[in-house]
Amino acid sequence: MELVCEGISHRYGALEVLDGIDLTVRAGECLALLGPSGCGKSTLLGIMGGILKPSAGRVSVAGNPPAGSLNPITYIFQDFALLPWRTVEGNVALALEHRNLAAGELRARVGEALARTNLTEFSTAFPRQLSGGMRQRVGIARALAVDPAILLMDEPLSALDAQTRDLLMEDFLKLWLATRTTSVYVTHNLHEAIRLADRICVLSRRPGRIKEIVAVDLPQADRAMPVAARAMAELGERLWDAIRAEAQVAEREIADG
Ligand SMILES: Nc1ncnc2c1ncn2[C@@H]1O[C@H](COP(=O)(O)OP(=O)(O)O)[C@@H](O)[C@H]1O
Ligand SMILES: [Mg+2]
Repeated sequence: MELVCEGISHRYGALEVLDGIDLTVRAGECLALLGPSGCGKSTLLGIMGGILKPSAGRVSVAGNPPAGSLNPITYIFQDFALLPWRTVEGNVALALEHRNLAAGELRARVGEALARTNLTEFSTAFPRQLSGGMRQRVGIARALAVDPAILLMDEPLSALDAQTRDLLMEDFLKLWLATRTTSVYVTHNLHEAIRLADRICVLSRRPGRIKEIVAVDLPQADRAMPVAARAMAELGERLWDAIRAEAQVAEREIADG
């Protein structure tokens, strides 16, 4: 499915957060939203998902969800949002409850999501028994279990240490390449955007406006290859030039209170 934002602006009281966002997330692409902290990325993602009503503008979707999709627009959160009193499989099942599924289908969907994310042997573990990376795997499994048409991810790896982040990013990429679910990946991390996205939408500091949309022309599968290193580094420098000034000003604004 495709998701179209037209003239999206948003304010919280007097605070202007987004200004005139026109953006199409194309069917089957992974679009990264890259911008400094506080520029309105989470707000825009919430508006895309329909959990927040914009002050102005509209969001529409086109196309059909995949057969068997239980929840066309699905989130993956930074803080994993797991229930501590439920096991891994209980947390994955959470997304499937209250949907009138036969018990057999619910079990099959949970089992498949756990298998795809290599969590099968941890199905009866509780979140507190898992590392941060494993917890986010559960978050990913829960999202996959509903066969989403559009996946909205809000800095899903930000709470993890750098090494875990890299490992999970590669795992996630493999999963994503197998389905190419239309995705929006919010991050302030240039490296993640360049590794995962088909296109990168660079936002200005608050109020967020689109500064630039950059296509990453190399297929994801080839980007980690040594021959791609130079092109990827050049792209990184170009993007860093685009966001450096925004990030510096945003940093000062936050520091100033
Ligand atoms: N519910 C809210 N009420 C008031 N201000 C908010 C609310 N949510 C976010 N903000 C403010 O709006 C700005 C943008 O927030 P957010 O969309 O979370 O940015 P980002 O995800 O890019 O860091 C920030 O300055 C934040 O403090
Ligand atoms: Mg945010």
